[in-house]
Amino acid sequence: MLDSGTILGAISPAEAVELTHAAFERHHEGAWEMPAKVYVEAPGAGDFRAMPARGGGYASLKWVTSFPRNPERGLPVVTGALLLSSAETGELLAICDCAAVTALRTGAAAAVSAQALAREDAATVGLIGCGVNGSWAARCLAAVGYGPGICADLREEAADSLAGELGWRAGSPEQALACDVVVTVTPGERAVVGAGELRAGSHLAVLGADGAGKAEVEASELGRCRLFCDEWRQASSGGELAGPVARGEVGRADVTELGAVLAGEAEGRGSAEELTLFDSTGLAIQDLGIAIAAYEAADGDAAPVPRISL
Ligand SMILES: NC(=O)c1ccc[n+]([C@@H]2O[C@H](COP(=O)([O-])OP(=O)(O)OC[C@H]3O[C@@H](n4cnc5c(N)ncnc54)[C@H](O)[C@@H]3O)[C@@H](O)[C@H]2O)c1
Repeated sequence: MLDSGTILGAISPAEAVELTHAAFERHHEGAWEMPAKVYVEAPGAGDFRAMPARGGGYASLKWVTSFPRNPERGLPVVTGALLLSSAETGELLAICDCAAVTALRTGAAAAVSAQALAREDAATVGLIGCGVNGSWAARCLAAVGYGPGICADLREEAADSLAGELGWRAGSPEQALACDVVVTVTPGERAVVGAGELRAGSHLAVLGADGAGKAEVEASELGRCRLFCDEWRQASSGGELAGPVARGEVGRADVTELGAVLAGEAEGRGSAEELTLFDSTGLAIQDLGIAIAAYEAADGDAAPVPRISL
């Protein structure tokens, strides 16, 4: 069993960025496979997701929640387990804490998108939503050289704590929106990026809206951006883009997958003034990349990892 401490101890934010970059590339070239994510609604509470993937000699299945009101009960929004199996023998190799895997790969996706799509001289980071996954986005961005940043959250203590950890500053959403790289990781119940609020040349990574009915960006502001996503099938049905797609405002030809940009097959940012928006819905192949690395690190580690027979 790989618990949160083992996973976070085995993989640094910088390594998570490299692993996530590689996972997007492997998926784009067809080497890593990922059937569609399955949502199971828990009405009034949130939803469960089942996320399978195969690649690199392994297969994984993540069973994970998004229960947005859980913090009111002192419980995490994202929780569950990831099963890692051998794709050669089918053997179950590890059960991983999925909050740690999710946080590393979600934060890393924001950083990979910034490296690919932000202006070359982009430095400052504005983070709106400094909870679990927002904090890891900030850590991953900082690990690959972005910052300083502005941390904005309805909970001042969350913004202060993260800003203190990274040597950044707590500030208002308006200050965060004025940064070169803007990352939103709120529950997606209402827009946190309003009409006309983004500055020319910004890169926006939208992480919080990862399911039906969630959105963090007003439609008119989204319309000002060149659009990118992690995977069209998933993003068009359950992410920031899902609303505009359903209303016919955005179509397949308007959105580029990040993997195609990383592979050099599609254009990224077109100019220094352009606004770029990356819609991250969270892919199973990202989880797989982190889980493999955590498993291989723990397998070769002298430190004891709890083992159970199934
Ligand atoms: N894209 C992905 O891959 C991915 C992965 C994991 C989680 N998520 C989603 O990200 C969201 C956040 O998840 P989490 O685990 O970080 O939750 P969390 O509760 O730990 O953090 C959310 C933070 O947003 C803050 N917040 C809420 N409304 C705000 C507002 N209007 N302005 C500023 N701050 C606000 C909260 O105070 C909290 O600190 C959820 O919707 C979750 O489903 C997406």
